[in-house]
Amino acid sequence: MLVASYPLLDLNTFHMDVKAQWFASFSSKTELRALLTDRRISEEPLLILGGGSNILFTEDFEGVVLKNNIKGIHIVEESNDSILVDVGAGENWHQFVLHAVDNGWAGIENLSLIPGSVGASPIQNIGAYGVEVKDVITSVEAVNVHTKESRQFSNAECLFGYRDSIFKREEKGKWIITKVRFALKKNAALNTTYGAIKDTLDKMGISVPSIKDVSQAVIAIRQSKLPDPAQIGNAGSFFKNPEISINQLHSLKENYPAIVSYPIDATKVKVPAGWLIETAGWKGKNFGSYGVHKDQALVLVNYGNADGNDIKQLAQSIKHSIWETFGIQLETEVNII
Ligand code: FAD
Ligand code: EPU
Repeated sequence: MLVASYPLLDLNTFHMDVKAQWFASFSSKTELRALLTDRRISEEPLLILGGGSNILFTEDFEGVVLKNNIKGIHIVEESNDSILVDVGAGENWHQFVLHAVDNGWAGIENLSLIPGSVGASPIQNIGAYGVEVKDVITSVEAVNVHTKESRQFSNAECLFGYRDSIFKREEKGKWIITKVRFALKKNAALNTTYGAIKDTLDKMGISVPSIKDVSQAVIAIRQSKLPDPAQIGNAGSFFKNPEISINQLHSLKENYPAIVSYPIDATKVKVPAGWLIETAGWKGKNFGSYGVHKDQALVLVNYGNADGNDIKQLAQSIKHSIWETFGIQLETEVNII
């Protein structure tokens, strides 16, 4: 049943004090399908909410917000060295990672401590420390908002890219993800190539890490630089790391010899937006109730009762400044509503 004028303050990690005109949560596909028969859902704007950790609300949501609470972790197939597991979209992502780590299932330990729900993980193909969720997803189950039919998207059909998928593009707003199937490994080689993981394991005195060691190293790295949304409102990286041509990198190096870059292919590199924003002088800037995080310039923060429009405006000013300084266009990662 849809509830009117529902507070969303505790349902978004930026802690924006906004309301949904109509709100309901669902715990199964049957409940979801029943909700979808409500004519307000076809007539009003619709927003599916997971953990609210990649959303910036700038005003009350004039429409219907549906919160996904579908739970369950079910083993589909298991062998000596692999496991296929179905996970309800409303499961908490980090709790699922911990469950996998505790059971010795490898593949997602580098994605420890990412906030949000399992159902949102394919939407922007969450990634961290050298791993993206596309590496372990075999299929995504979703219900069509209009026809209520259920469909499986294979990994290839999801058209995953860096912080990107079909659910952010051609199929945006058409599907509600209800379940994700993961292929994880037992006794797998672990991915510790990402510099900071190796250094952290060294500091922990660990030379042959277990899955749990890698997970704990990632958690320690993240806690050292990312603000905890329970303490300071934020939605992680506000912008994507931009791709530029090698030629542009060479000309930028003339003025900025310390510029950081990661190769993509023979013609392109990725530049950390955090480096650009810090170098342009924004890191740690405080505007009273909001600002740029002091330890990670890519994270915009709400210190108390900021208005979403203040943060949106700050993001615009940063984009403008990065364009003026480096000739690089930043793209927003967070969903601004
Ligand atoms: P929400 O914010 O609720 O929703 C995000 C989008 O997905 C919205 O458009 C929403 O409508 C849609 N959506 C959500 N659930 C569904 C569903 N079931 N069906 C259809 N659409 C749906 N991201 C990374 O990739 N890597 C990181 O390292 C990382 N670190 C972070 C650190 C912090 C401190 C924070 C606050 C965020 C970080 N993020 C990171 C971003 C965020 O955690 C991810 O994008 C996460 O997947 C969002 O999940 P959510 O459930 O909170 O999604
Ligand atoms: N950097 C700076 N100044 C800063 C921040 C970063 O110079 O203020 C430099 C660092 O020194 C480093 C480089 O930028 O050389 C990369 O920094 P970091 O390892 O912190 O990662 P990031 O590129 O800023 C990305 C993801 C994160 C993910 C981490 C770890 C994007 C947009 N962000 O951040 O994802 O956790 O790598 O893999 O790709 C998110 O998407 O919300 C998110 C937090």
